[in-house]
Amino acid sequence: MLNFDFYNPTRILFGKGRIADLSKVVPDGARVLVLYGGGSIKSNGVFDEVMSALAGRTVREFSGIEPNPSYETLMQAVELVRKEKLDFLLAVGGGSVIDGTKFVAAAVHFEGDPWAILENRGRNVTQALPFGAILTLPATGSEMNNGSVVTRKSLQAKLPFSSKLLFPAFSILDPSKTFTLPVRQIGNGVVDAFAHIMEQYVTYPVNSPIQDRFAEGLLQTLIEEGPKALATPDDYDVRANIMWCATLALNGLIGAGVPQDWATHMVGHELTALYGLDHAQTLAIVLPSMLRVRKDSKRAKLLQYARRVWNITEGDEDARIEEAIKRTQDFFEQMGVKTRLSDYKLGAQNIETILKQLGDHQMVTLGELRDVTLDVSRKVLELSI
Ligand code: NZQ
Ligand code: ZN
Repeated sequence: MLNFDFYNPTRILFGKGRIADLSKVVPDGARVLVLYGGGSIKSNGVFDEVMSALAGRTVREFSGIEPNPSYETLMQAVELVRKEKLDFLLAVGGGSVIDGTKFVAAAVHFEGDPWAILENRGRNVTQALPFGAILTLPATGSEMNNGSVVTRKSLQAKLPFSSKLLFPAFSILDPSKTFTLPVRQIGNGVVDAFAHIMEQYVTYPVNSPIQDRFAEGLLQTLIEEGPKALATPDDYDVRANIMWCATLALNGLIGAGVPQDWATHMVGHELTALYGLDHAQTLAIVLPSMLRVRKDSKRAKLLQYARRVWNITEGDEDARIEEAIKRTQDFFEQMGVKTRLSDYKLGAQNIETILKQLGDHQMVTLGELRDVTLDVSRKVLELSI
């Protein structure tokens, strides 16, 4: 096992009716900014519950944080916080709202243009406002991690950053608030969480049976529960299992002490920045090809994945690996997320542009072995057409 630091200070309040407990976790006397997206929380009652739980406090609102939150929009929230001297942020929504809130938290006291936070991947964050989250879409794990991804539309750049100052103080996870999710977002969430586990699990062996078995348990849970969320959308237990699974997929636990990949995510971010694809759509396109192209360096873990997650025991090594990747791809399709560039009207004509973006963003030595060069990314994209 590799050396690691594991630190996760986020308090999780999980279950039905937990929004009412907001008053216990938002600090007394806080001047609160509630941040949210395009309005789903207004139509499903979450907003009203939040406001009644915050009754009696100083509360301002900031709406309109878009999927793949933009620097341009978030800077307006930064101005509002500065102007109104607010001191606590509450994100209410999916990963985009939580990620956007992390940026605002870091940007408010940042000297100079806060875009530098992205350029430095968060290493230059020296203080951040405290914040909490109410999660309405299980997918990203942002509710219990210190990472964020922000897009600057004017540059078509979608970049990640993280800081130990950017863990939510608390996150409220009420699975019943996910009943209103559109089918597309249910599928997206399951695929995103699945890809997070794969990025931390399918690398190379370092004798880490605990992390491996946690990862395999999470993957199998998504494989079992994901289709049920589509078939029986009003089943609370299914939603609860998916929600907790997505949180555990990216809260640092399964990634501690093991190599991590993340090449699929970095290539995927360029597809979103350039063509506006949903985050999970990009992963569904890239991950199967990424595994195929890199199957030699990932061989041992791919065979373990095939055997333990999909129960594939027949055939030679290459056949078992291919079968496992095919089942992964079929699973994404079963969740309603298409897995080919051509499904999104993209193809060979777009590959040079994507590679140029990767180069511009220094994404030229990706992966657990830093061997995913632009040539490797090219092969992956070609195989994804
Ligand atoms: O904006 P509203 O009206 O709220 O609608 C949202 C949005 O249109 C809707 N929605 C959310 N909860 C709902 C709901 N609709 C009905 N009922 C509900 N309960 O869903 C749409 C998508 O929301 P979004 O927050 O964009 O989705 P997601 O949670 O998948 O977040 C994606 C973003 O997270 C980043 C991605 O890159 C992308 O920008 N990621 C963040 C990570 C992290 N911080 O660790 C890791 C991930 O790999 C990912 O990169
Ligand atoms: Zn992701």
